[in-house]
Amino acid sequence: MSTLKLNRIKLNLIAFMLVLSPSLSYCAQKTIQPSNAESEIITPLPKPSPHINGPLVYGCRPGNPFLYRIPCQGERPISFSAKGLPAGLKLDPKTGIITGNTPQKGEYEVFIHAKNSKGKDKRKLTIKAGDQLSLTPPMGWNSWYVHYNRISDHLMREAADAMISSGMADVGYQYVNIDDCWSTAGKSHPFTRDSSRIGTIRDVNGNILPNRHFPDMKGLTGYIHSKGLKAGIYSSPGLISCCGLTGSWQHEEQDAAQFAAWGFDFLKYDWCYYSKLLDKEPSIEDLQKPYIVMGDALRHQPRDILFNLCQYGRGNVWEWGAKVGGHCWRTAGDLGFELDRFFNVALNNARVGAWSKPGSWNDPDYLLIGWIGSQNKDDTFSEPHPSPLTAQQQYSYMSLWCLMAAPLIFSGDMSKLDEFTLNVLCNTEVIEVDQDPLGKCGSVILKTGNNFLMVKDLADGSKAVGLFNRGENTVAVTVNWTELQLSGKHSVRDLWRQKELGTFKEGYSVQVPPDGVVMVKISPNHP
Ligand code: GLA
Repeated sequence: MSTLKLNRIKLNLIAFMLVLSPSLSYCAQKTIQPSNAESEIITPLPKPSPHINGPLVYGCRPGNPFLYRIPCQGERPISFSAKGLPAGLKLDPKTGIITGNTPQKGEYEVFIHAKNSKGKDKRKLTIKAGDQLSLTPPMGWNSWYVHYNRISDHLMREAADAMISSGMADVGYQYVNIDDCWSTAGKSHPFTRDSSRIGTIRDVNGNILPNRHFPDMKGLTGYIHSKGLKAGIYSSPGLISCCGLTGSWQHEEQDAAQFAAWGFDFLKYDWCYYSKLLDKEPSIEDLQKPYIVMGDALRHQPRDILFNLCQYGRGNVWEWGAKVGGHCWRTAGDLGFELDRFFNVALNNARVGAWSKPGSWNDPDYLLIGWIGSQNKDDTFSEPHPSPLTAQQQYSYMSLWCLMAAPLIFSGDMSKLDEFTLNVLCNTEVIEVDQDPLGKCGSVILKTGNNFLMVKDLADGSKAVGLFNRGENTVAVTVNWTELQLSGKHSVRDLWRQKELGTFKEGYSVQVPPDGVVMVKISPNHP
């Protein structure tokens, strides 16, 4: 029996044990049932010939270090070449990694070619050198929901390795982000009883110190960069982070400079205990202040650093997140421990979708599928276990995130990526909807009862539509062209199955399973 098959059986067994003994771990998720996910893989396997993926536009700041690994599926070795690469950038033909320094302000059209013994592919990438970063939603991985206060340099490197070996990087996942618990705690905290993370928090010059699980920050980012990937770090504007480790309070510029010097490309800035510094309910100005300070500090670094605001949607952050320098902001509290809320979180996030656009994205939180951990009643964190979501729920989850142009940050275990999880995370046609350069968040059309459509306009004039069923029975869900302000013949493509469904004159109707989705692309029919 193949290792993959054995792993799948193990996965099902463990999922089943968790169902039988819910007391094994506490979590607020209601939908605990084993998913027979493996039988529900619907994305066709990638072909052995090269298939270039990734965004069509890429923003970067003149003069700063440039790093871009061409996401490309297909059997290795693949030989890469590019036409139109601006001076100052060079492409490694073997790895497909472009490095150098970002050229002067301007738009550069680069034609990327990839070739192997089975075939070839090409794709245009527009590099926009200017002030804007994150022209499409960031994609990557974050350590929180799997490693919590157990995170280490070793686990970060392991995640970077897995991002490459699993093929995730070949469809566009790029950021490898440390969450809380890398800095040092001055004293014990319910989440940091582990004495190895307690000690001196800053050196004599006030420089923030990593704890002993991170012996070489520059070495770590160097390792991640050597694979063509990018590295993310976490801090809080408060004295301490949510887990009680040192935050950036009154050291904002110094910390921003340190993060840049270490080589980080992304900062998640988590409100946490900042409220403790205020003696009142925070006003909008209070909510904005720490983010303005850190946003300015980051912009002045000689690196492109994405700024991720994490303050749980307070003060309608979507209205001002971009103004304070944010590239994405959470629109709600932590989804992780209440996964059964994902439909509602998505519908709320879509309500403020008009604020999401290239360079600044609403963030409904991470992709919590595969093996994820949970918080125990005694404030410890459980080891990861299989997601309690059914296969259909996972398809709905990923479809919603892509239709909303949400950041695609997976936070499950990179060392336990099973076939089904990769199938959900790595469907290139579904990801293209998320990464579409128009950068629109889908809007919701409520149908009868439990059904709704989410509709996203795409740059090529077509529309991506999710036909969702939140009910307990399989039902027909219909999208009428009139609802989309369309008329005449349109072709419909099933994006999960990557299959043409035909040409339809007035609309399209399909049976959708409980909590499930059918996600289609509707394009004008040019005979
Ligand atoms: C908050 C954030 C989470 C995670 C934890 C870390 O709860 O919302 O995403 O970063 O803090 O302590």
